[in-house]
Amino acid sequence: MALFKSKETTIEVDFDRLPRHVAIIMDGNGRWAKKRGLPRTAGHAVGAETFRTIATYGKDIGLDYLTVYAYSTENWKRPLEEVNAIMALLKKYLGEAIETMEKDHIKLNFFGDLTRLSPELQTLCAETQEISKRYEGYQVNVCLNYGGRDEIIRGMKAWQADCAAGRADPAELTEASFSQYLYSKDIPDPDLIIRPSGEIRTSNFLLWQSAYAEFYFTDVLWPDFSKDDLLAAIASYQKRSRRYGGV
Ligand code: FPP
Repeated sequence: MALFKSKETTIEVDFDRLPRHVAIIMDGNGRWAKKRGLPRTAGHAVGAETFRTIATYGKDIGLDYLTVYAYSTENWKRPLEEVNAIMALLKKYLGEAIETMEKDHIKLNFFGDLTRLSPELQTLCAETQEISKRYEGYQVNVCLNYGGRDEIIRGMKAWQADCAAGRADPAELTEASFSQYLYSKDIPDPDLIIRPSGEIRTSNFLLWQSAYAEFYFTDVLWPDFSKDDLLAAIASYQKRSRRYGGV
């Protein structure tokens, strides 16, 4: 058991019992900016830096997987200027990740329909996924143009096509076999899902995979989310009793 002293409180985390997979809805960038009289895009810029800090820290403390919700299937409804600013940030951070991920041993993977992204961004995603194949270890999944319902429908369609082609048998369908049709195939379900910014909803994030996840909500806005906030979420998770429907 290790104790962490933060400014106001002591955070108690058992590093031998970490969640394997933590998922985060990176929310509150717009409100963070508004509070400071800045454009929303400034909140996304700081939020992207927070992503890098937390993604790196996840590896330092020994998580196996970190999944972040960066852009939903609904986020296209935002003003074009904001969409473009988020896409530019993704381009910047993926470009920089390509330079450092092999040295840092951080694998990058993507959940979502990438075909709607610009060809340039799609190439960057493909390149980072290709580099990731070269080594084992900590993996960060970035959800881009992702929606939980969309993921399930896509999985259903792919499974149906396999059934029609004789590659799958409806009588044999199980939860485990259907999971193989999702973006998260071969990745354990998230143990802990964190939503900052005071919103208490899942917003179409990992609908299938979150069935037995523990949820942690905090009022902290994503750009302010710190390493201590991640430890506080893990400490809360470690106090829970996970019964998976049993006693
Ligand atoms: C939610 O906050 C945030 C987003 C929709 C965008 C998240 C994008 C980033 C953090 C930047 C790029 C990401 C990476 C992986 C480099 P919001 O805008 O909905 O905030 P609000 O609810 O306060 O308006």
